[in-house]
Amino acid sequence: MPSDAQPVSILFVCLGNICRSPMAEGVFRSLASSHPLISRIDSCGTGAYHAGDNPDPRTMAVLRANGIKDYKHKARKVRVPQDFEEFDYVLAMDGMNVADLRGMVKRKGLGAEVGGKVRLFGEFGGRSGGEEVGDPYYGGDDGFEVAFEQVVRFSRGLLEVVEREAEERG
Ligand code: 4NP
Repeated sequence: MPSDAQPVSILFVCLGNICRSPMAEGVFRSLASSHPLISRIDSCGTGAYHAGDNPDPRTMAVLRANGIKDYKHKARKVRVPQDFEEFDYVLAMDGMNVADLRGMVKRKGLGAEVGGKVRLFGEFGGRSGGEEVGDPYYGGDDGFEVAFEQVVRFSRGLLEVVEREAEERG
């Protein structure tokens, strides 16, 4: 890795910021919080329904069962335009999240470069066309286990891309 590689910041986004995006944040923190190419990791929701709440207990249970025991978060809504200015990657869990985020970018007239930061997290899973992380909120615990398997896989893929891009820039 080149010594002058610029670290990047990552924002994970879902609807409520209590199930999927905190799970992604917790997993990615456990993989990469001390990685020299990662400067900041956070998560938020496109909606404010749960602002100030802790993550869903089912998200915390899946994290804990997989050895991630120190993750803490309070839900917050995406800040426009600040989050789009401050973060390099704005990674959405499903297509509706992508559309909502791109709509916000467009309404604020933030431009194509900012819009290009918004991507489906599942693009990093290595399957063609990408994958959505389905909303597990109204379902059973198995939905949280499926989401966990996905966010681990996508997080590893993302880290590989960040490392490769730093290599190419250097
Ligand atoms: P999340 O799940 O977007 O993965 O945090 C949801 C949590 C709450 C609601 C919807 C989705 N809700 O409508 O309250």
